[in-house]
Amino acid sequence: MTEPGRAPLLVASNRGPLSVVAVEDGDEVRRGSGGLVSGMQTALGATPDAVWVCAAMNDRERALARQAPSGRLSELDFAASALNGEFDVRMLPIDGLTFRNSYNGIANSTLWFVLHMLYDLPRAPTFDAAWRRQWASYVRFNQAFAQALAEEAAPGARVMIQDYHLFLAPRMLRTMRPDVRIGHFTHTPWVSADYFGMLPDDVAYAIVDGLLGADLIGFHTERWADLFRDTCRSVVGREPDGIRVFPLGTDPDELGKRAWRRDVESELRLLNETVGDRQLIGRVDRTELSKNVWRGLLAYRELLRTHPEWHGQVVHMVYNNPSREDLPAYREYTASIARLAGDIDDEFGTDDWTPLVLEIVDDYPAALAVLRRSDVLFINSIRDGMNLVVLEGLVISERTPAVVISGEAGAAEVLGEDALRINPFDVSATAESLHAALQMSAAERAERAGRMRAAAIRLPPAEWFQAQLDALG
Ligand code: G6P
Repeated sequence: MTEPGRAPLLVASNRGPLSVVAVEDGDEVRRGSGGLVSGMQTALGATPDAVWVCAAMNDRERALARQAPSGRLSELDFAASALNGEFDVRMLPIDGLTFRNSYNGIANSTLWFVLHMLYDLPRAPTFDAAWRRQWASYVRFNQAFAQALAEEAAPGARVMIQDYHLFLAPRMLRTMRPDVRIGHFTHTPWVSADYFGMLPDDVAYAIVDGLLGADLIGFHTERWADLFRDTCRSVVGREPDGIRVFPLGTDPDELGKRAWRRDVESELRLLNETVGDRQLIGRVDRTELSKNVWRGLLAYRELLRTHPEWHGQVVHMVYNNPSREDLPAYREYTASIARLAGDIDDEFGTDDWTPLVLEIVDDYPAALAVLRRSDVLFINSIRDGMNLVVLEGLVISERTPAVVISGEAGAAEVLGEDALRINPFDVSATAESLHAALQMSAAERAERAGRMRAAAIRLPPAEWFQAQLDALG
């Protein structure tokens, strides 16, 4: 057993609450934003000696993490001031190759693809010798986390491990420190036992057994939890206790404050120059295969082809935040979306009507402006653990929006029948749902939006995290 440390509460995640990038005249430090991060920070800030353990994700972070006493980035002046001394951060300087193999190769290109069912099956996946080397890196990555957590945790501490980057760490930590209480939360969907069974047998076993090292295994929806239970039965022959559902919601106060700042107001003015008094179908996503923007654009094109009455009456705003640009499949997908958007503009655009705006840029105020202005919020994910964006849109839109949502997004379970639910592969039905949303009377929209808003804020991040701590005991 590893000697205990001092932290009574720990969070572990690949991406930490703080990031550092080398720029021309020094380091640029960014504190993570977003509801989820701030929800966990609230609990850590309220617990003396709490620690967040995360990975160094670039060369500069690795260098700093090596310099920092015991990897405590929070001991370095710039990090301490960014964190306001609220809690400690230990950043792990895992070597670059191991990190990249684990993050790009396994987490983002294998586990993400399995859990979102993104494989083009005639060609992928292939689990070969090169893949096995990546898997060995994923094992080492998880070991580094388990070791650090074992060193930092006080006797009987609570350790909250996040997501698919760290599926093996719960079992590893349990072996090193049988005294600690371990929670794991999967933010993605889960899949059927059959689809999961594509993974090599020993790998499928290691993942399920790794998770079963936790006392509490959390998911966003009943559906993902049930699929995980099925997978457990199929892979390890039993259904464990401790699987619980915590549907993450959004915090209206925090979001409201951010969404009415001056930078958002000026973006909104710009947006209104394009939209005018037309209806806006808005979506905000990362550039991400699972978000299904490609079929979303096909559906919008079909809407304009089959319902010409909307010409000049509607604008579709697709706001994409660049992500995972290291992966060629993502770069190609984004390029194909840009081409399709160009085709739609060529087919329908006129001198005084821009039917579609595609932005591929990291600009949070502009994204908030889209959500504030949307008459219809549109999510057609192939699969999505929750989709917080639609919940945020419901809270800040000034238009009591209608929602068209994929039945494969966790948020569909939260919003129930007030959202118009679609099959993400059925382009024609999606076009018809967009039509129905645009046509919905103001009174019906308002009623539905009121109920959906209430659902969206039922479990804000700080309470979501606290509920897990309470369940862990
Ligand atoms: C999304 C997913 C999370 C995941 C995160 C990773 O937000 O919902 O499950 O942890 O992406 O993103 P990153 O940019 O850190 O790879």
